[in-house]
Amino acid sequence: MKILLLGNTGQLGWELERALAPLGEVIAVDYPVFNLMDPDGVRGLIHSAAPQIILNATAYTAVDKAENEPDTSLAYAINAAGPGILAEEAKALSAPLIHYSTDYVFDGAKGRPYIETDATNPLGVYGASKLAGELAVAAAGCAYLTFRTSWVYSMRRDSFVTKVLQWARQQTTLKVVSDQISGPTSARMLAEMTAQLLAMGCTAGSAAAGTHVGNTITDWISERQGTYHLAGDGCASRLEWAQEILRLDPHKDEQTVREVVPAFTADFPTPAQRPLFSCLDCSKYMATFGLRLPPWQKALKLAME
Ligand SMILES: NC(=O)c1ccc[n+]([C@@H]2O[C@H](COP(=O)([O-])OP(=O)(O)OC[C@H]3O[C@@H](n4cnc5c(N)ncnc54)[C@H](OP(=O)(O)O)[C@@H]3O)[C@@H](O)[C@H]2O)c1
Repeated sequence: MKILLLGNTGQLGWELERALAPLGEVIAVDYPVFNLMDPDGVRGLIHSAAPQIILNATAYTAVDKAENEPDTSLAYAINAAGPGILAEEAKALSAPLIHYSTDYVFDGAKGRPYIETDATNPLGVYGASKLAGELAVAAAGCAYLTFRTSWVYSMRRDSFVTKVLQWARQQTTLKVVSDQISGPTSARMLAEMTAQLLAMGCTAGSAAAGTHVGNTITDWISERQGTYHLAGDGCASRLEWAQEILRLDPHKDEQTVREVVPAFTADFPTPAQRPLFSCLDCSKYMATFGLRLPPWQKALKLAME
């Protein structure tokens, strides 16, 4: 299978390139060679690559910067218009598109884990642009899966995990907010969950192709297409997440921190308002694909080892 992976140097994209390798030829590109702001270049690249499946791990993820950009069109171009073009090209090639979105499409007022059909109400430009991207992908008419995820981290790029480890070596007291709750999600786990289900789709598609002409990974995805919540299992506050990071730190002897104290979101004003409770209920993903999501603590341990 020929796979086009967009955004292979990001947190998720880097892990996807590795997780997808056993499935076929992975053509991996990222900014600036591939620029979602350049629609003609995007279309040209997809035409010449002629992939059988496209995965989009690119995004404008600077949540606070998005609020302050004099021209919010940057976030919308990358998170909404760009994915729309990818979906149109996927349709033209009869290739499925795997896309990722965010818990920030919700306002956090529900107070219980969100399911896919809950009403969206993004609080900021980033969430609104990602929601527009979800809609653009769904409207294009290609076979697609959109995975909404939350609090993605990796050890390779700046993330909450790497920042906590850094602060723990610089400070004696850490103040971490206890009123933001979601599901910490390992980029590696997210990539592996994606690759697992694509492997399943390839096997089912090729088995069915023996009896039904035309049944492929595209058909398999098309039968299951839609939005799925996919995140680390369980919910945690940022404070609980930080405490677990410090507990699992393989080099605790380097820590200078002596206490971790709870704080409130209001203590750290940011340009973008974030949902206070954005845990995602992932039952639909697990029921549809028969895969179990590891508890967020387990995935964190594996990522930090
Ligand atoms: N990070 C989170 O906490 C979080 C939470 C919920 C959902 N998500 C979603 O999960 C997915 C993966 O996120 P991530 O954390 O892996 O993101 P990331 O680490 O920020 O990676 C995004 C990638 O997109 C690239 N990119 C930026 N602008 C581009 C452009 N104009 N054209 C092409 N590529 C461009 C970036 O390149 P440069 O590095 O060169 O800019 C980077 O490689 C995204 O859909 C994101 O919205 C993330």
